[in-house]
Amino acid sequence: MSLYLTSSPKDCSKKGFHINKLNKKLLYTLSTLILSILSATFLIWLILHPSKPEFSLRDTSLYELSLSSPHLLNSTIQTTIVSKNPNDRVGIYYDQLRVYAAYKGQQITADSLLPPFYQGHQDSNLLSASLHGTGMPVAPSFGYEVGRDQTAGRLYLGLKLDGQLRWKVGTWVSGRYRFDVDCMAVIAIRPGDTSGLLSSVQGNQCSTTV
Ligand SMILES: *[C@@H]1O[C@H](CO)[C@@H](O)[C@H](O)[C@H]1NC(C)=O
Repeated sequence: MSLYLTSSPKDCSKKGFHINKLNKKLLYTLSTLILSILSATFLIWLILHPSKPEFSLRDTSLYELSLSSPHLLNSTIQTTIVSKNPNDRVGIYYDQLRVYAAYKGQQITADSLLPPFYQGHQDSNLLSASLHGTGMPVAPSFGYEVGRDQTAGRLYLGLKLDGQLRWKVGTWVSGRYRFDVDCMAVIAIRPGDTSGLLSSVQGNQCSTTV
């Protein structure tokens, strides 16, 4: 009886030890596996290291910028943006592309949605957008600001593009990343012109954030 009592806890601890050892081995194997998968993924990412897509303005024309009341604007702007994928081994899927024009921080045209597309390695695409605003609400100072720019002979027009992109490496496709593009067009305008302004500019580089 006493022998049984003394041997019983010993057995229990021995059994427990076995389970612990098995668990530890499993845990160790599993964590090693996960760690090596993670570091392999990181290494591949480091080697490929996708660069941000590049955007530049090709041309921008301002056809109409007219106030129907001090704070309601009609606008018509045509723009062409060059989009380039600078990567040698990474393709880009563009999803949900949106373009609009802004003046002094205010959106002055409605959103224009561009069709989604895929951009292969080192590919370039032209994105054309016809931007319109009808009765767009603007700050009461809008007319004054435009008048001042007309006197100066040039108007700074912001062109904004945003959306989501996915990277493609071989057959693997990443999750979605938001990106924003900011372009600035300098439009030459004549004093006294209030409607039917027509001007084109050769574009410059836009800034991209992913
Ligand atoms: C703005 O557009 C609306 C709708 O087309 C039109 O009724 C209005 O007269 C326009 N205003 C100006 C100042 O052109």
